[in-house]
Amino acid sequence: MCGIIGYIGQREASSILIGGLKCLEYRGYDSAGMAVFDGQNIQDIKIKGKIFGLAKALEKKNLPGKLGIAHTRWATHGAPSIINAHPHFCCSRHIAIVHNGIIENYANLRKVLIKEGHHFSSETDSEVLAHLIEKYHKHKSLTKAIQLALKQVIGAYALVVISATEPQKMIAIKKSSSLILGLGQKEYLLASDASAIIPHTKKVIYLDDNEMVVLSKNGYRIHNLGNNHLIKKKVETINWNLTQISKDGFKTFMLKEIFEQPESIANAFRGRFIPEKGQIKLGGLETIESKLPHLSRIIIVACGSSWHAGLVGGSLIEELAKIPVKVEYASEFRYRYPVVGPDCLVIAISQSGETADTIAALELAKTKKALTFGICNVVGSSIARLVDAGAYLHAGPEIGVATTKGFTSQLIVLTILAIHFANLKKTINRKNAQKILKELTRLPVLIKKLLDQSGSLAELAQKLKNTHNCLYLGRGYNFPIALEGALKLKEISYIHAEGYPAAEMKHGPIALIDKKMPTIFIATQDKTYKKIISNMLEVKARNGMIIALATVGDKKITSIADKVIYIPRTIDFLMPVLNTIPCQLLAYHIAILKGHDIDKPRNLAKSVTVE
Ligand code: F6R
Repeated sequence: MCGIIGYIGQREASSILIGGLKCLEYRGYDSAGMAVFDGQNIQDIKIKGKIFGLAKALEKKNLPGKLGIAHTRWATHGAPSIINAHPHFCCSRHIAIVHNGIIENYANLRKVLIKEGHHFSSETDSEVLAHLIEKYHKHKSLTKAIQLALKQVIGAYALVVISATEPQKMIAIKKSSSLILGLGQKEYLLASDASAIIPHTKKVIYLDDNEMVVLSKNGYRIHNLGNNHLIKKKVETINWNLTQISKDGFKTFMLKEIFEQPESIANAFRGRFIPEKGQIKLGGLETIESKLPHLSRIIIVACGSSWHAGLVGGSLIEELAKIPVKVEYASEFRYRYPVVGPDCLVIAISQSGETADTIAALELAKTKKALTFGICNVVGSSIARLVDAGAYLHAGPEIGVATTKGFTSQLIVLTILAIHFANLKKTINRKNAQKILKELTRLPVLIKKLLDQSGSLAELAQKLKNTHNCLYLGRGYNFPIALEGALKLKEISYIHAEGYPAAEMKHGPIALIDKKMPTIFIATQDKTYKKIISNMLEVKARNGMIIALATVGDKKITSIADKVIYIPRTIDFLMPVLNTIPCQLLAYHIAILKGHDIDKPRNLAKSVTVE
């Protein structure tokens, strides 16, 4: 997830663009750049690092002009570097673009364009857009060229284009990535979110998918990308203040990230399978594909929440692909004498890609000649560079210290990986693979439904905020979610919480149960449902307070639990993703009521680069 901004008007573009980028910086900050039309050519500056660096570079090199675009990057394709920073140019440098989103078919487009003589300067997916537009702009207007180019593009984009050949214009298109038009006095701004616009105007138009806006300093036209029909859009007035919307209107980054999950989950699976064939296409696996049949087992190494995701992933791989999987704390693995060898695939899971213990575990695996695979969010991170192959989460920057969208995206990538291994080992038939993949695509909608319950979880938080201890119980695929729920509560509310396999309760934790101690049961209907109900009755018999996550329509459970949170129905493999959402929201609301710093909880850091 990157931040983009464009300006056309009467004022110097560069100062407006740099101010806008500062507001958008939370969206990504590994590199940044700006391009401004100086009356003859488009000049640019790019830097690696934060916006601060770009502002400093601008002090040295002035970019005069009243038409410009700028970008702050959170790398997805290609490491964070100056060459990969936007804006990207076509070969003749007449066209400059900034892009937020993912171009799924960029590899094919790039191949064709290179054959046609185009020269690429970066490793990004975005650069194909500049060259593709250039190809059509030779004989067509800029507007038409963009339309023809985008007909060939599969993926998500918020795209802003300027051209030295039609310098009175700025053109933007939105598909699946946010883009807002700001309407000023003889000036217009385009930005990924309103925070970059409201210092200049509060009048905005929220662009919808497949809408194209053509701007000049004297006016704007919005039409449908496909059929050119003009669209009359409502001009809205923003009544937020700047501080609120620097987190896109959310009170905290964590809440924003929780609410981003329908989108981040879609980004984790988008373009990664062929639904009608039930097949997975994970580009990252291609380099090691031939070695996979020779592997006899898998070891997953990770820390914290990533380890919880690994537990779910391990069960999925064993069940679907029948490959033995061991899930290890990276910090333990590195100091044991584990049996690892060339027959072994070691999968490292890490949102940040910088966790010291996970890096050390990987290094150990490499010395033992194991094949290594990374599942990371941060592109170009140490783990991403260390492994033989890998898959990114594409979740966008996660700023809240407690992971939310990173965790659920890990679950998605692991599910995809499990299906891929199962396809390779022929342990799944096409119908079953198709069924899982179909359900995967329903998750964003189901998650939206769960997010709608945030208000009732806030009410529940009122009842729980003074508790000192809390037990989370689940079984099977949902046992790791009990661990994750407990960890979320601990991290941000500082309430002591334990996650346990529900059946283990009677082997000790049951001694803790009394009327002050809440137990959160993950009791959605699967093969262990009846057993969990028995555990619930055991808690009830000891006057414990019971909160149940139950499948929609489960009426029986209301007579046992004090509070029921209903979860939409999906297949068992994917229930962990849904069950995670109320656990995140509950921990969040309790921590808010306790007045804690949600995004930076005490004693924690976003990436744990020390042992
Ligand atoms: C929990 C949390 C941590 C991380 C752990 C590993 O909310 O964020 O437990 O999961 O520090 O971090 P990564 O995934 O970056 O290796």
